[in-house]
Amino acid sequence: MPDNNKASATITPIDTRLRGHIRWQYTEEKSRIHSLYELAKNKVWKTSEAPWETLVDKSLPPSRLQFEPLAGFAPFESLSASRKIACSWYRHALEISDILHGEQGALLVSSQLVSCMPDVEAKLFASSQVADEAQHVEFFSRYLLESIGTVYPPSDAVADLIKAMVNDARWDYKFIACQILIESLALARLQDIRRATLVPVLAYAIDFISADEARHVKFGTDVLRRHLATLSASELQARSSFVVENVVRLSSAMNIYTRVAEEFGWCTRALRMHLRQNRIRQPQPRHDLFRQLTLNMKSVGLLTPETRERLGKLAR
Ligand SMILES: [Fe+2]
Ligand SMILES: [Fe+2]
Repeated sequence: MPDNNKASATITPIDTRLRGHIRWQYTEEKSRIHSLYELAKNKVWKTSEAPWETLVDKSLPPSRLQFEPLAGFAPFESLSASRKIACSWYRHALEISDILHGEQGALLVSSQLVSCMPDVEAKLFASSQVADEAQHVEFFSRYLLESIGTVYPPSDAVADLIKAMVNDARWDYKFIACQILIESLALARLQDIRRATLVPVLAYAIDFISADEARHVKFGTDVLRRHLATLSASELQARSSFVVENVVRLSSAMNIYTRVAEEFGWCTRALRMHLRQNRIRQPQPRHDLFRQLTLNMKSVGLLTPETRERLGKLAR
């Protein structure tokens, strides 16, 4: 299907003066980060071993009907059965494309983190994250190319965040964007997709990917907790507000549904109303999304009272 999204350029240059460290000191003492690194090496999986033969039955929708966000929207319900399935696949492909681009962002940032991390243990873990993110990019790109035949361009909000994160010279902003913001939202989103999917190969891979992402979050919270404790209250608030502002941008942009509405000639406002009513009827997925983020922010000390209040309003 044609796509009119603005972020359609196929190449974006990276322009950053990364401030990193070479560490000449190696210690025998092992921290929790070393255990996470050991775990990462033991939990390696291969995209090529996923059950690709079960890839896609296009006569079925990608998700169980009770999880289809468009179900109950009158213009969607008036489509023929085969057109409904095609519409659900288009929505699904846009969503997975955004996840894939987010994975590439995580791949680029984690490769920068190898230089940025202050000690050797953390550099080693970051290198394992690079390998994990490469697998995630490999899986989602193969999944889209084999099931849909294309990868859609990123939503504007996703593209802007990835560009900002990769180009930012400050390691802690980069780290917060990748390990706290993107990983927390991605973990919650992947769990939603896992519950809803009717595609065996996707269910198989998400179980491995979620375990990898949970390890990355643990690494992120471990490093950040120590770093943020050294900052002043205003420096902390600046970083906390940075997370909230990006969450607002990502959740208010609603790019995927704007694109679905444009493709099918529907009124965007009416579709937004429908989705809002869905959220009121079934608040759990949105609560889960914000719960994960709030917990991770709290555990590193980023959940200031101001931020707690703003996130509480957003979760409603
Ligand atoms: Fe990932
Ligand atoms: Fe990750």
